[in-house]
Amino acid sequence: MRSPLPDYLSEVLQACSDEDGGELAAYIPELADADPDRLALALSTPSGTRYAVGDADVRFTIQSISKPFAYALALVDHGLDAVLERVGVEPSGDAFNEISLDPATGRPLNPMINAGAITVHSMLDADRVQAGFAAFAGRDLEVDEEVHASELESADRNHAIAYMLRNHGIIEAKPTEVVDGYTRQCSLLVDVGDLAVMAATLANAGVHPETGERVVPRWVARQVLSVMTTCGMYDAAGDWFTLVGIPAKSGVSGGVIGALPGKGGFAAFSPRLDEHGNSTRGVRIFERLSRDMGMHLM
Ligand code: DON
Repeated sequence: MRSPLPDYLSEVLQACSDEDGGELAAYIPELADADPDRLALALSTPSGTRYAVGDADVRFTIQSISKPFAYALALVDHGLDAVLERVGVEPSGDAFNEISLDPATGRPLNPMINAGAITVHSMLDADRVQAGFAAFAGRDLEVDEEVHASELESADRNHAIAYMLRNHGIIEAKPTEVVDGYTRQCSLLVDVGDLAVMAATLANAGVHPETGERVVPRWVARQVLSVMTTCGMYDAAGDWFTLVGIPAKSGVSGGVIGALPGKGGFAAFSPRLDEHGNSTRGVRIFERLSRDMGMHLM
């Protein structure tokens, strides 16, 4: 990497902009209207510097990238054992919206698939989600009410998952209320810089690199990054780890975060998705960053 960091990040964006494969998420009508060509990349360093290039001012809903952060908050509030009693840590190898419950216990296999994330959400109240996400981002995040309403209209599958969870005694709250809250959590608005700094907070063992606030204890950051490593990219987790080799999480609005302990947080945004629900350009960008910056374990 010879050029200064912002120039290098712009070069990576440019090099990945010819990737035009993939489709917009069609199951949430508001997301199907997104501009498919949006493209942005950000890096947040452990010393608190943030670089963002491309469509860095565009805000989009956080979607599944909210899952590791909600998991972190539930771990802080309830402790590891109480969370593990309800949600496991094994990769499911299934799609994100699969009803993957352990047949013996009814527990969701992990907190990154919807079943696990809905359970984790049921362990947090709305104020805690708002305050906890604000601490990770270093600013208050608003809900996109239109995306929230649009997704709720078509949330039959998540309702089905929530009813199954209550049937197994994994959640106690009313399924419609939990799905409403979980969908609000997914509808929080972020830009690529917010995501990079949120990822950097995990990479920094729980300390926000800009505010200096300890948002979560070190053991929580370790638990979350471990689960992101094995489950963050759903049924593409194996491909992702062999090619990129860092803990990551994707969302259906086109965001991808990567957190590299000691090195910082990265985030890419581009709305077209591959068959696993991961941003096609986002994956390309991270493959390139990993190669150039030697991020992989080996
Ligand atoms: O539960 C859902 O369907 C969405 N709100 C979040 C899904 C998501 O982002 C999956 N990630 N690729």
